[in-house]
Amino acid sequence: MSIPVAVLISGRGSNMEALIKAANRPGYPARISLVISNKKEAKGLSIAQEYGIRTQIIAHEDYETREHFESALHNVLIENQIQLVCLAGFMRILGAEFVGKWAGKILNIHPSLLPALKGLNTHERAIQARMRRHGCTVHFVSAEMDEGPIIAQAAIPVHVDDTSDTLAKRVIESEHWLYPACLRSLACGDVQMPRKP
Ligand code: GRF
Repeated sequence: MSIPVAVLISGRGSNMEALIKAANRPGYPARISLVISNKKEAKGLSIAQEYGIRTQIIAHEDYETREHFESALHNVLIENQIQLVCLAGFMRILGAEFVGKWAGKILNIHPSLLPALKGLNTHERAIQARMRRHGCTVHFVSAEMDEGPIIAQAAIPVHVDDTSDTLAKRVIESEHWLYPACLRSLACGDVQMPRKP
């Protein structure tokens, strides 16, 4: 039996598509049952629909507080019997209460070798800092942004003539295989969130 997964997006959804494609392969231990966007105009919504996946918009601006938004999100996940959640370009910070309810069951992908370059514009910042290596990280989500325990990273070299666009192109290629590999490991029980000492 494959594990039902929700993917949360805010935009283009290329990681979401990589997860959908991987989950469609025979023997993959998870299935993408639902795609939720907090943005009505997210391009990823129509891509998910093309694959026959149910989509739902839960727009944060429709809720008075973050707590109300997160409680709506939580209820939809429960109603749909979701067991794992993948953030894939989901541009909202999730609060401690929500994250606590889903501890060990939510993953995020970040376009840098964490703990380096938390936050936005990572490719530009890697070039400005003359980093020789860059890449992406899949980690468990904790209440602090880009801080949760790391599951795996893919490192790529930064070339002297790289621009943020050329670098972004190579990093996203590595995101597209790393994220499905990590979801597979979590879904089949090979990795789990470490307990606090
Ligand atoms: C990716 O670079 C991901 O690492 C970051 O947001 C971007 C989302 O891109 N969290 P996409 O929507 O998956 O194409």
